[in-house]
Amino acid sequence: MFPAIIAGTIVALAACAALLVIGYTIRFGTGPLPSSSRAQKEMIALAASLDINGDIVELGAGWGTLAFPLAKGFPHIRVTAVEISPVPFLFLQLRALVQKRANLEIVRRDILSVSLARAGLVTCYLYPDAMKKLKPKFENELQPGTVVVSNTFAVPGWEPSRVGELEDLYRTRIYEYRFSPPS
Ligand SMILES: C[S@@+](CC[C@H](N)C(=O)[O-])C[C@H]1O[C@@H](n2cnc3c(N)ncnc32)[C@H](O)[C@@H]1O
Repeated sequence: MFPAIIAGTIVALAACAALLVIGYTIRFGTGPLPSSSRAQKEMIALAASLDINGDIVELGAGWGTLAFPLAKGFPHIRVTAVEISPVPFLFLQLRALVQKRANLEIVRRDILSVSLARAGLVTCYLYPDAMKKLKPKFENELQPGTVVVSNTFAVPGWEPSRVGELEDLYRTRIYEYRFSPPS
């Protein structure tokens, strides 16, 4: 009797979680698909090569594939992981209980509502329409010299300072931009 109730509860919770993930994926245009390990390594290596002047902001943190290694790699820099979808957000919170990172802040917010004024590095793996929406926000809020690193999706109309191409099936591109205000 009790095992059946427990099993039923677990199945119901898993179904609710799956429905929530699907609902937020439809609403926000992308699901919590993590960066591949190659993309992750490339982005972390790229970050390590920079002189980061400000906070690190991970826009759409998913399961923390980038946020946790960034927080570990840069213990003296505040890393803000922004995630709107409740299931990945809860996972991030639980992960933070296990992998404690004093400099990691996890916020449940829309990426368009967080201030980027103190960012020295912005990372993301989103989708084309999000990059289109972020462009004016970047141009209004970023400080000159802030670096934006985007997995796969370019900031429309911006000239990248560097484009890395991964040796994977999709020749995934990692775009790096050094922000300078449009003249
Ligand atoms: C493709 S995943 C990338 C996860 C992680 N950055 C990585 O590289 O592994 C994109 C994440 O962005 C989140 N997301 C999409 N739109 C968002 C929005 N407007 N505000 C906050 N998070 C958003 C999704 O819920 C998803 O978890």
